[in-house]
Amino acid sequence: MDLSTKYLGLQLKHPLIAGASPLPDDLDKVRGLEDGGIAAITMYSLFEEQITQNLIGSEAHIGAYENSFSEAASYFPEVDLLERGLEAYLEQLRRVKEAVSIPVIGSLNGTREGEWVYYASFIEEAGADALELNLYFLATDFDVTAAEIEDRCVSIVAQVKDRIEIPLTVKLSPFFTALPHFAKRLSHAGADGLVLFNRFYQPDIDTDELDVRPALDLSHSPELRLRLRWLAMLSGQLPVDLSVSGGVHTGLDLAKSIMAGADSVQMVSALLMNGPQKIGQVLKELTHWMEDKEYSSLEELRGCLNYQHCPDPEALERANYMRVLKSFRTIPSHRKD
Ligand SMILES: Cc1cc2nc3c(=O)[nH]c(=O)nc-3n(C[C@H](O)[C@H](O)[C@H](O)COP(=O)(O)O)c2cc1C
Repeated sequence: MDLSTKYLGLQLKHPLIAGASPLPDDLDKVRGLEDGGIAAITMYSLFEEQITQNLIGSEAHIGAYENSFSEAASYFPEVDLLERGLEAYLEQLRRVKEAVSIPVIGSLNGTREGEWVYYASFIEEAGADALELNLYFLATDFDVTAAEIEDRCVSIVAQVKDRIEIPLTVKLSPFFTALPHFAKRLSHAGADGLVLFNRFYQPDIDTDELDVRPALDLSHSPELRLRLRWLAMLSGQLPVDLSVSGGVHTGLDLAKSIMAGADSVQMVSALLMNGPQKIGQVLKELTHWMEDKEYSSLEELRGCLNYQHCPDPEALERANYMRVLKSFRTIPSHRKD
């Protein structure tokens, strides 16, 4: 069965890649992923906050160059690159690259305009085959409009793109009011790919301690549906590769993602829960399903149920919302026995 695919110009033996996670922090786990058959590995993110903190730490040094940050690339390594955190990230990226022969995707995570975008080029120099830019953002300011947030994201993408030669993919949140239009703007700004979606970690309220607690739950397959809808909407409409992240746990999840238009499929929770043996398992499930349905390659499958090819595109739209709500009858009454 031909499962090969192209994502961000990278030739992959199949679409399943390890999404950004702590796994690349341990080289044994990295080798385990490659031995388990993963097609590519995404590094955990280097965060804007990590970079900015280091830059503030070396304020005295930077002060002299305050208005000349555009020439930063030439003196940046002297500024602070040896700080732990930053250098550790780049060093680990180099080690991961050396440890495996599959593509390694770097990850940069930030939302405000600033000098941190320069680190895209350091990630490239450290050997990343592509860069994933995670625009994780929570709009909490009552005076900042959606248009301002989108403008800022577009500007960051353009700035990062300007600094690298490797392909750039942008990991998005599902909470943009006009996603297709925003996606088009990102593509014009230079994004070669989009990753749908970031998974937000919702804090919980601790009713004993009367406090807000961070909570990180791993995902489940139903979370994939939000991604499937938007993959299907964007697929085939923009000159970008599409990747899905969130809720991929089985071979059928993989098949659905490809049918909705994904060029690659990312997995994190399932790998953290089950280890690298999960990779072979889901690929086997995908292959069996494709054989059963008489598909001979992934290409035949890709996008066959996207918005353009779906026999009933309304199923992806508002009309279906009404139909689903109207068709719901009653929950069977609780039995007393
Ligand atoms: C422990 C953990 C760490 C993560 N670290 C990052 C990260 O550094 N950067 C990033 O973009 N996403 C990160 N993610 C999000 C994942 O890449 C992924 O988008 C999310 O878990 C949804 O995919 P899944 O359903 O396969 O888990 C992390 C997720 C987990 C569970």
